[in-house]
Amino acid sequence: MIRDEQRRAAAEAAVALVEDGMVVGLGTGSTAAHFIDALIRRVRDEKLNIAAIPTSKRSDRQARDGGIQMVSFATVKQVDLTVDGADQILRGSLDLVKGLGGALLREKIVAAASRRLVIIADASKLVDRLGGKIPVPVEVAEFGWESTAARIETLGGKPERRWPKGTDQPFRTDGGNYILDCTFGDLADPAGLERALSQTIGVVESGLFIGMADMALVGTDRGVKRLDKPA
Ligand code: 5RP
Repeated sequence: MIRDEQRRAAAEAAVALVEDGMVVGLGTGSTAAHFIDALIRRVRDEKLNIAAIPTSKRSDRQARDGGIQMVSFATVKQVDLTVDGADQILRGSLDLVKGLGGALLREKIVAAASRRLVIIADASKLVDRLGGKIPVPVEVAEFGWESTAARIETLGGKPERRWPKGTDQPFRTDGGNYILDCTFGDLADPAGLERALSQTIGVVESGLFIGMADMALVGTDRGVKRLDKPA
């Protein structure tokens, strides 16, 4: 519960960054859902005139149901501000592991098109080393996924196809792909691993977001802490 309060506080701090006329990227996950709720309230109460691009069907539904005007890359080239969660945030560089919520591909596409990417999280997400026990989610094509998994093993990972407990089907992303949760242990060179994964045939995208986040708003026991990417 305390964690959820921290997430909510970070989301409330981020919604203050939204200005009239902006195109806003909407992340995915429980923290991003708090942000979308807060944005719906601002749009309703202040008659804020914004448009939004979602990173998942879930976030799209939540925002539409709340009355936010949605747009797509068919009509919009650049996103002013994207607010999203993360599974790990590296202190200092603000490099990220994302994708435990399964939306990493769309999240990366929206982040890459954004002038500013702000990450919101509770304090448990802030780490001194990426990886460890947390796997790096890697989105892969269904065809030949076993062969892709074998190639990821040669990079030092232990890939496990994501399979939600109690279901008879593997997890599929909004794009219809599989996710391999790849445990690498502590990541000594996250940027090098991201490059290697992006060059691996069968990999659609990895959950390593290197140099993409501009700011992190982290909920802590003593309020929301702002961390900026080093210049
Ligand atoms: C989804 C993500 C989420 O941002 C990440 O999993 C954090 O989720 P939560 O806010 O629920 O902890 O990357 O693909």
